[in-house]
Amino acid sequence: MRWSSYFIPTAKEAPVGTEAVSHQLLLRAGLIHMLTSGVYSYLPLGLRVLNRIQDIIREEMNAIGAQELFLPCLQPLELWQQTGRDKTLAEVMIRFKDKRGKDMCLGPTHEEIITDLVKDFVQSYRQLPLVLYQIQTKFRDEIRPRFGIVRACEFIMKDAYSFDRDKKGLERNYQLMYGAYEKIFKRCNLNAIAVKADSGAMGGDISHEFMVPGAIGEDAVLICNACGQAMGGAQVQSLENGSCPQCAKGTLEKKVAIELGHIFQLGTKYSQAQGANFLDENGQQQTIIMGCYGIGVSRLIAAVVESHNDAAGIIWPKEVAPFDVEILPVQMADSGIMELAENYYQDLSRLGLEALIDDRDVTAGVKFNDADLIGIPLRIVIGKRTFAEGKVEIKNRRTGEVMKLGKDEVSSKIKELIEKV
Ligand SMILES: Nc1ncnc2c1ncn2[C@@H]1O[C@H](COP(=O)(O)OP(=O)(O)O)[C@@H](O)[C@H]1O
Ligand SMILES: [Mg+2]
Ligand SMILES: [Zn+2]
Repeated sequence: MRWSSYFIPTAKEAPVGTEAVSHQLLLRAGLIHMLTSGVYSYLPLGLRVLNRIQDIIREEMNAIGAQELFLPCLQPLELWQQTGRDKTLAEVMIRFKDKRGKDMCLGPTHEEIITDLVKDFVQSYRQLPLVLYQIQTKFRDEIRPRFGIVRACEFIMKDAYSFDRDKKGLERNYQLMYGAYEKIFKRCNLNAIAVKADSGAMGGDISHEFMVPGAIGEDAVLICNACGQAMGGAQVQSLENGSCPQCAKGTLEKKVAIELGHIFQLGTKYSQAQGANFLDENGQQQTIIMGCYGIGVSRLIAAVVESHNDAAGIIWPKEVAPFDVEILPVQMADSGIMELAENYYQDLSRLGLEALIDDRDVTAGVKFNDADLIGIPLRIVIGKRTFAEGKVEIKNRRTGEVMKLGKDEVSSKIKELIEKV
């Protein structure tokens, strides 16, 4: 991409009324834009990050045998009445009557919808287990939208649902999901910890939340300074100021955290209420056993920025960066410099790398500041002095380390350098 014709509206100042660093940086770096409280647009750079995170999630979901589908946001309220969640979720649900006078809502989540679908198609134990997922927009009329896209009223979630014939099957799928979640957060370079949680309005027995401790968040975790055991949910209140139940030696440190994902062993709460049954080997009717598994995909972007930034801007981990490399020709008027920048751009795309070339006619200072702000992992700087020596500089955004390379070495070495970022 050429910056001069690409839509990256960067800003120098942090917008007023923003408390989270990630919120400020996502706005300033031109990744998101607020339409109204709790509702955000994703600009081209933000959408690139979102897509890369979604790719990671898809890979890990597909790897454990989950199948992607796409359910409607527009939902009849009667499905929610079957489970009583038209009442328990009334506060966040966006409801209205359609033109035919039918009560409708915009989906805050999709348990009822998927259970209704599976009920129509699954009749026999032979069709189980089944694991389905989607990446979808959710609508929740949050009383207090906060920290930008961390708590929004319209946001993107990956939600998966497992359907099993028995508890053993559920436990197996739960374990697989748990493992996939660990991989997803690790690939996004997030230090997520799994804590046992209360299952709340979802229902069911066992549930884990994946939390990332940091400067902001609406949740809290306790971490033992001796054995590293992490605790969350109801345990936070009961154990605060106490000693570690795991090792009995350490003291527990309380930290705020962002909830990234939440997995539940639901059991039969939804299948029972909605009549999702199957016939077992003996021709006996049984209730399908379910699990549900969510990740806040858009929230993940904010969590990554919260964990990876410095005073100058964002520092994208390479797996989720909007581009792999930024090419920064300093003197636009120098045709030799511009030609070399163009050559790199071609070489990199031949190597399958995504490059952003800052071909704007602005001062070096503006280019360097914006480069730090948007935080592409590697930067190739082509400046007059080094160019005259037949060299260019490669800067690592995270470490600040600068390496001089002969100008013909760059394309052959860049892949290796990215691996090391
Ligand atoms: N208002 C929101 N804005 C952005 N992401 C959200 C929001 N609510 C939930 N999420 C994300 O979706 C995941 C699954 O949601 P869920 O556990 O049902 O929400 P909650 O914890 O608010 O009850 C959460 O772990 C979180 O990452
Ligand atoms: Mg939750
Ligand atoms: Zn301990």
